[in-house]
Amino acid sequence: MWQVRIEPLGATFGCDATESVLEAAQRAGVHLPRSCRNGSCRTCLCHLRSGELAYRIDWPSLSPDDKDEGAMLPCVALPRSDLMVWAPQARPVNADGDQSAAGPT
Ligand code: FES
Repeated sequence: MWQVRIEPLGATFGCDATESVLEAAQRAGVHLPRSCRNGSCRTCLCHLRSGELAYRIDWPSLSPDDKDEGAMLPCVALPRSDLMVWAPQARPVNADGDQSAAGPT
């Protein structure tokens, strides 16, 4: 299992090699924007600051320029090392399932 760190939230959670970063975040109580969950809508787009990943699908909706800039789609991204992800819209999920409006303290 790899470790995924979400910044600037500062959340860290484990992610299995067969689990998407989005699925692992959800399990860990971290809300990331999402819609299609199949790598096409780009709602979940964030940036990989360090680490290696693979994609669950052959053609995630990322241009060569996106990839050069480190853009990633966590809904279909599978870790291949520990990851540092820049996702300013990430929020902790409260116990009742609501997103918290609070950012990092
Ligand atoms: S949720 Fe649509 S591309 Fe990730």
